[in-house]
Amino acid sequence: MEYNTVESLETLRGEALAEFGAISSEPDAENFRLKYLGKKGILRDLVKSLGSMSEDDRKTFGAAANALRREVEERFAEAPWQNKAETSDPGFDPTLPGYPFQTGSLHPLAKIRNEIVEILVSMGFSVAYGPDVESDYYNFQALNMPPLHPARDMQDTFYISENSVLRTHTSPVQIRVMEAQKPPIRIIAPGRVYRNEAISARSYCMFHQVEGLYVDENVSFADLKGTLLAFSRRFFDANTKIKIRPSFFPFTEPSVEVDVECFLCKGKGCNICKHSGWLEILGAGMVHPNVFKACKIDPEQYTGFAFGMGIERIALLKYGIDDIRLLYENDVRFLRQF
Ligand code: DAH
Repeated sequence: MEYNTVESLETLRGEALAEFGAISSEPDAENFRLKYLGKKGILRDLVKSLGSMSEDDRKTFGAAANALRREVEERFAEAPWQNKAETSDPGFDPTLPGYPFQTGSLHPLAKIRNEIVEILVSMGFSVAYGPDVESDYYNFQALNMPPLHPARDMQDTFYISENSVLRTHTSPVQIRVMEAQKPPIRIIAPGRVYRNEAISARSYCMFHQVEGLYVDENVSFADLKGTLLAFSRRFFDANTKIKIRPSFFPFTEPSVEVDVECFLCKGKGCNICKHSGWLEILGAGMVHPNVFKACKIDPEQYTGFAFGMGIERIALLKYGIDDIRLLYENDVRFLRQF
């Protein structure tokens, strides 16, 4: 309907007031405001009709239109629901302290890995990565484990095809780095590894390791000892002792396993160290000449040491967790403790 006469404004007023009287909710009120009082609302649009009127009509119509608009504006502004917020419900009190945000936290394994990486990086190692799906060559052959080598049995391998596996350790990254880079080489390689073992409190089909490799002229076993002792003293305890026992790995000669003094009982003997006072934390050794040869590095000119440690093992020990499966179930009641 066109509103261009004083009579039509009377009709409009009747309609507007009826609608106003029917308002029963906030959205109703907002709809009413938009329809009548908004920038494009009916009551503001009335001025458009003025253009086509004689001067006399314009005066009377203009005055009536203004009066109607003001009346509706006032009623709207004074409606009881307009003041409700201020009188009964303050709604929002900016002086109240805020709700704490629920922040996440790092997974215990990520924390341990970051700590290990940080210490070794500060000692001069840089970080290298390799693929989780490895070829038989990198996972075994180049590490001095030819087909049918008995040491392959130590690692229950997931085969993807005849020649590719889920890597059973991070040692293949050593080969990839030595193929790509000339000595001096100082790298660590954190990452996931996979083994087809029965899942229990002590073992899982997937876990994490940090590999280390240092190759240069005149790298000696004393360098290996010094590096591992310095690492252990920063990671565990400033006075911790380490113990080195002979062992066997195909890719190192000599090979060793390294124990640290139990950081809980300080060597006195407790449940965690099974009353021995020592905790085994890693395997290590001097890089085997066959491994250098596979990477076209001259074993007469260069020597090196390597080590590999399990992150889960260290996390279980450090946090006193008795079931490795807790690390993978993502139960927030467990994770919130770290
Ligand atoms: N790759 C071995 C494993 O997963 C651990 C290891 C032992 C890595 C001796 C090394 C090493 O680099 O020198 O059982």
